[in-house]
Amino acid sequence: MATVLITGAGRGIGLALAAAFKARGDRVIATCRGVSPALAAPGVQVEDGIDVAADDAFRRLDQRLGELRLDVLLLAAGVLSQERLGELDDAALARMRHQFEVNALGPLRAAEALRHRLGAGSKLAILTSRMGSIADNGSGGYYGYRASKAAVNAIGRSLAIDLRAQGVAVALLHPGYVRTDMTGGRGDISPEESARNLIARIDALDLAQSGGFRHASGETLPW
Ligand SMILES: NC(=O)c1ccc[n+]([C@@H]2O[C@H](COP(=O)([O-])OP(=O)(O)OC[C@H]3O[C@@H](n4cnc5c(N)ncnc54)[C@H](OP(=O)(O)O)[C@@H]3O)[C@@H](O)[C@H]2O)c1
Repeated sequence: MATVLITGAGRGIGLALAAAFKARGDRVIATCRGVSPALAAPGVQVEDGIDVAADDAFRRLDQRLGELRLDVLLLAAGVLSQERLGELDDAALARMRHQFEVNALGPLRAAEALRHRLGAGSKLAILTSRMGSIADNGSGGYYGYRASKAAVNAIGRSLAIDLRAQGVAVALLHPGYVRTDMTGGRGDISPEESARNLIARIDALDLAQSGGFRHASGETLPW
């Protein structure tokens, strides 16, 4: 039985991941901002009040966790908004800053505060997006989302290097195009299917693969 901590677990892919890990018998600590009635169903340990954009969020969480070693730290919380050239007003710039706070700094805050709970064989997985790929950007726009996901890719790569001596492997994973609130319910796959694919990637993750940027299907993605 592995111990898995998941951020952004109140809905969407994070919720499906919490349910899937729980269903196979792993211990799940699910963090969310507010209480999620959906989370009560899988019977996981819920830690609410965790806004990943708050600088002290994971320091406060850390104080609640007692003596807990994590096998998997899975950072799923994320936000998306669209900003278009010609419409970059103050509100759009504020949305861009918020996406950086959540999508890029959120995972780094978690890694900094919780890394002492990771040891040899532990895994740190960050849900990024292929929209953070500079090489794969063929349609423009989404300034805040694309840049914040490119930033978290850079952060994840540094984490892979910095945590290697501790025996911790790091994965940057694109979950696929998934039918959640983020996509307005559009997408190629359900959150449950995405969770199955992501868990397969996390199960296969080792130090040899650490620092890679992959689709949940297994394909290596271009930076
Ligand atoms: N869906 C896709 O096709 C797709 C594609 C590529 C990448 N991704 C990535 O996959 C991850 C999950 O996306 P999703 O589709 O499941 O999105 P979603 O349905 O919109 O869910 C987003 C999750 O992130 C949480 N969250 C947002 N802001 C937060 C904050 N400040 N602090 C803590 N939690 C916060 C939300 O919690 P609240 O309920 O409190 O808002 C919710 O649990 C994201 O990182 C996203 O960028 C998704």
